[in-house]
Amino acid sequence: MMSGSPLPASRPPLAVPPVIAIDGPSASGKGTVAERVARALGFHFLDSGALYRLTALFAMKAGVALDDEATVARLAAELPARFHNAAVWLADENVTGAIRAEAVGAGASQVAALPAVRAALFDRQRAYRQLPGLVADGRDMGTVIFPDAPAKVFLTASAEARAERRYKQLIEKGNSASLSDLVADMQARDARDASRAVAPLTPAPDALLLDTTHMDIDSAVQAVLAHYRSRL
Ligand code: DC
Repeated sequence: MMSGSPLPASRPPLAVPPVIAIDGPSASGKGTVAERVARALGFHFLDSGALYRLTALFAMKAGVALDDEATVARLAAELPARFHNAAVWLADENVTGAIRAEAVGAGASQVAALPAVRAALFDRQRAYRQLPGLVADGRDMGTVIFPDAPAKVFLTASAEARAERRYKQLIEKGNSASLSDLVADMQARDARDASRAVAPLTPAPDALLLDTTHMDIDSAVQAVLAHYRSRL
């Protein structure tokens, strides 16, 4: 038998910062939803896609081939990245706009398929888990980076709905675009992301599936918040 007085029942558990993991395909609206959920709760926010974009940009600037796995992984491990308010910095350069360029997105998708690069970014992503909590946006937040997250959401929408959203964004920015090309693009990218060998895009078994095809951003934010509260 143990001696001494038992712990009082009201003793709070050690503070492990909660994580809300939000995964899903591109243009599903998850970035906007994740940011708003973080703001509503006063939580930290991790845009993990930005780390892959920064890695690609860093490699491109250094003249490193994007399929040179060892060198790109070293750059990923050393990434001089800073996030400040809404701005993203690579060393002393503001790259907020640059990392959103199509070419950098394509490069990000290439480097994200390299296991050594994913491994190099693992600890950096985990380090965002700080009090009072974290909303993490990505493809493998609930499956690989934060498998013990108390709340996981897999946010998706039909390829047509996502293509239409992307189409509107491009037109608003004064670009030309073809809706049918964008739908084909989304479908090809979905197939590639879901079938890649390392960290394929797939919902965690315990994720809430949220299909936003017929849902606006506000409703999606409310659904994520309700899910999180139900898990407390
Ligand atoms: O979400 P995004 O478009 O910024 O992501 C950029 C690329 O990085 C995209 O090809 C998917 C990939 N990515 C990933 O493989 N794992 C993550 N956790 C986040 C993004």
